[in-house]
Amino acid sequence: MSQLAPAPPAAPPAASPAAPPGPGAQWVSALAHALSAGTLVKLTLSKSRHRGDAAQQAFGRLVQLKAGPHLSILSRHPSRDVTVNHPLAAAARTVGSLLETAFENAHLFTTVGDFELRTNKKGVARFSRHPATFTEPPGVEHDRVKRYVLDPAKAPYLAELGIATPDGHIKSDKADKYRQMQSIIKIVDEVVGKSGLLEPAARQDRRLRLIDMGCGKGYLTFALHDYFNGHLGIPTDVIGVDRNVELMALCNGVAERLAVRPGLPAPATGDLRFVVSGVEDFDVGDVDVLVALHACDTATDIALYKGVAGNAAVVMAVPCCQKELRPQFRAPRDELPMLKHDTFKDRYSQMLTDALRGLLMESQGYRTRVIEFISDAHTHRNVMIVATRRAWGTVAEPGAVAEPGAVAEPGAPRGEAAARYREAVALKARYRVSEQRLESLLVGAGRLAAGESLEPGASLDPGDA
Ligand SMILES: C[S@@+](CC[C@H](N)C(=O)[O-])C[C@H]1O[C@@H](n2cnc3c(N)ncnc32)[C@H](O)[C@@H]1O
Repeated sequence: MSQLAPAPPAAPPAASPAAPPGPGAQWVSALAHALSAGTLVKLTLSKSRHRGDAAQQAFGRLVQLKAGPHLSILSRHPSRDVTVNHPLAAAARTVGSLLETAFENAHLFTTVGDFELRTNKKGVARFSRHPATFTEPPGVEHDRVKRYVLDPAKAPYLAELGIATPDGHIKSDKADKYRQMQSIIKIVDEVVGKSGLLEPAARQDRRLRLIDMGCGKGYLTFALHDYFNGHLGIPTDVIGVDRNVELMALCNGVAERLAVRPGLPAPATGDLRFVVSGVEDFDVGDVDVLVALHACDTATDIALYKGVAGNAAVVMAVPCCQKELRPQFRAPRDELPMLKHDTFKDRYSQMLTDALRGLLMESQGYRTRVIEFISDAHTHRNVMIVATRRAWGTVAEPGAVAEPGAVAEPGAPRGEAAARYREAVALKARYRVSEQRLESLLVGAGRLAAGESLEPGASLDPGDA
């Protein structure tokens, strides 16, 4: 990684003995100094002065271009991100005018200190300095791999599906949906990239196969098809599955229209189709990537199970409503002070549901992360389970498990996977859960031997609630 050569020192801000520089000028002066001294880490501008489609935040960082070091400013609008690179000599002035016209707050991170400009509700701004959060300057290589951006102008399906206007602008009431898609593709980009799936040796000249369970209107399905085939250039067949007949007809219609419409880039090599089916009835076959975004209740469990059964390298699920565990859930006596409130019981049983799902995926040879894929300002159902198959996680034939708690996966570190299942069983017992759908499916398929669990209606400790 190259570092920036320090630019010539910026002229110090004009000092007036009568009027000391205001907070905004002090912040801009700190930025100019950081740029000239080579200490800039990054900056953020926030609290937009405008609504509508104006930028709501902006982020600055150094990049090394052919023309030399620049300050790259990414402006985040509700419907799109816009990046502009500014020569260092003009950068502080440019950011200063953004502060005057577009943003009220600013945060500057340098290796010698953090500098903050904060404006209160009465419009009074304050400048403050804090100890440095970062002590090393970041590298300044320009992004080597072009990031995928879901650009409405280049994604005609967004207009067809009603997310964008015909001239390629995201509709304001669809901005949250668009953000979710963008966020998910960014995670797919990272997870699939690290999974090894894209390596030619792993693909062996075959098409990849991706399935979107409970795909609804197919926003994400189309975007994933575009991402793999158009952006990565990796032939990938994509199938959306949903029990909603009208939506599947609509999606197939859009897919057909776009494939035949003249003037579009060369058709992608992977198929895109939508199938009317319950997720429980759909035979996924062998699958590389399986996603399920807000599939209702236990449809998420079925999707996770189908990912395991199809030996998917990557399984990503964003759970929706979770109704299965709540009626079963009982708080143990020692947790009653916290869990006597129904609100907390609701939240806790949701958390328990996803914790169990994560452990059960790990019992099947997957590495699991549970993350918030987007701010809960955009959707409160913002938890994503990301499971990537470990190298040893190829599943065994059903029926290969004998001992309770044992796991069917030859060659796997059995102890570790079995330990995850024991943890799941212990959690179920602690909260008096007798049945969890993903576990039942894995046990039913012989991929897990049933661990100890309560029978429905088993008598409870009188202290539990
Ligand atoms: C909340 S929508 C989410 C749609 C889409 N994934 C998205 O996020 O835009 C849930 C979808 O799951 C479908 N669904 C729910 N349970 C299903 C099941 N058992 N089999 C097939 N589809 C199901 C519904 O028909 C609905 O279209």
